[in-house]
Amino acid sequence: MTIAAPSVHARELSDAPDWWRQAVVYQVYPRSFADTNGDGLGDIPGITSRVPYLAALGVDAVWLSPFYPSDLADGGYDVADYRDVDPRLGTLADMDELISQLHAHGIRVVVDIVPNHTSDKHAWFQEALAAGRGSAARERYIFREGTGPDGSEPPTDWVSVFGGSAWERVADGQWYFHNFDVSQPDLNWANPEVRADFLTTLRFWGDRGVDGFRVDVAHMLTKDLSEPLPSRAELDAMPIDGNHPLIDRDDVQEVYAEWRAVFDEYDPPRTAVAEAWVHPSRVPLYASAASLGQSFNFDLLEADFDAGQFRRIVADNLALAAESGSSTTWVLSNHDVVRHATRYGLPDAQRGADGRPTLKHGNEWLLSGGTEPALDAERGERRARAAALFLLALPGSAYLYQGEELGLHEVADIPDAERQDPTFFRSPGVDLGRDGCRVPLPWTASGGSFGFGDAGAHLPQPDWFETYAADVQDGHPASTLSLYRRALALRHELQTAEELTWIDGSSAEVVAYERPNGWSVVTNFGAEAVPLPAGEVLLSSRALDDGRLPGETTVWMRRA
Ligand code: NOJ
Ligand code: CA
Repeated sequence: MTIAAPSVHARELSDAPDWWRQAVVYQVYPRSFADTNGDGLGDIPGITSRVPYLAALGVDAVWLSPFYPSDLADGGYDVADYRDVDPRLGTLADMDELISQLHAHGIRVVVDIVPNHTSDKHAWFQEALAAGRGSAARERYIFREGTGPDGSEPPTDWVSVFGGSAWERVADGQWYFHNFDVSQPDLNWANPEVRADFLTTLRFWGDRGVDGFRVDVAHMLTKDLSEPLPSRAELDAMPIDGNHPLIDRDDVQEVYAEWRAVFDEYDPPRTAVAEAWVHPSRVPLYASAASLGQSFNFDLLEADFDAGQFRRIVADNLALAAESGSSTTWVLSNHDVVRHATRYGLPDAQRGADGRPTLKHGNEWLLSGGTEPALDAERGERRARAAALFLLALPGSAYLYQGEELGLHEVADIPDAERQDPTFFRSPGVDLGRDGCRVPLPWTASGGSFGFGDAGAHLPQPDWFETYAADVQDGHPASTLSLYRRALALRHELQTAEELTWIDGSSAEVVAYERPNGWSVVTNFGAEAVPLPAGEVLLSSRALDDGRLPGETTVWMRRA
């Protein structure tokens, strides 16, 4: 089914080498975007069929989460072959067609690269299992002997990011290391063959016209696993200062220097953005032009809807980006976190031990997208719209996650039996996991799977998706979809030098800034309406209140 898109002139593909600096990048989670063959899984032709929608939305680039052959043990971040397409999602020819259609609409293409680990179904890991201890094949991964009299205890007591031991025993008694799921063995980045193979992969996609790469857990690749290995307690006590055995080691930059040389073989150079969860002082290392060129800042994604937090985060990250000469990235949602419309509708500071917003199993305040009393769905959407306009006028690039332009909420009430995320199974049951933000999109109010495909969806869609469907919002000036379309079109017209000046707000709840060309933004984080400064109102996240700026609202203005 097609969604009537407002008529747009396809934009020319900009060949400026710095196209990425202030780009709006739309993240597609391919298995949950659009399904063309009715198997319940989104596919590459599905994305191609929605290129007009993406063009009408006005995005500059699309980032595709992994679409490679995979067992889906971790939603595709368990890659069995980096240079192919999962046959359930399509073919390489389908990818070529998608790239060509996106380019024809002026949209750049970024693909996800997952270099820390492969799937256990990757030919290399299968070879390592068959080849046995001491083999060159095992050297591509991290194999160790166990401890205890018969080696039946893991080499260390380390835990994986997804919970449980970070070691798994294979049939001949050796153990392999996995930072994430047991099906995601970590590669050995000290091995030259591993390094060379990723250069081949980068060129493979670069040659096919891919414009950039999102680098999964970019801070974890290199390791120092010299014996004796520290205990978990010792490991946790070590400073993360460039020499930590597992995290953010200085020597990972040697890998990215090699990658940079490959990126620069192309015109315009291929780009990259690091997913690096590192101390702010270390971000410029990844973001520098000699390294990956840009590094995610997830600070807004972790913040409450709060004036002080937002202002401090913007100031800190602009300063940090200036240090490396890169531009920063603004993100409110992605495939790993609770959607921000829902986060903002919950009491502030409902967070896990690591400070990240989380949904806890059984916590009554978090059940369901919009039906629990503690979730104020409307307030969440109001704040989400205000936050989006605040973010979309900032200097730097903006990353949108599929569905946020519909104001979608998290689906929190997926039955346990239908959950897929390994974090749910390994926690076990403590963390609801990330399936709730990965439910296939509602394109139409009617139809078996809300226009996602002809059959069901691989994660169950709730009834309330009907209200959020793209075709319901299309053409309605007050809808969130219309707001995003208008904002992205205006952003293009107004875009200017990567600078910002703070404007003194009328209260502590108001944050205001102005770009060099007089494009100004005022966000009222509080509940009470406040006076508006003089100037022409260009766009507002919510109707003005008798010429005043209502609570939880952002306006874009042009100086009088
Ligand atoms: C970060 C990705 O965003 C996440 O989805 C994945 O589970 C881990 N890296 C492991 O690849
Ligand atoms: Ca399909």
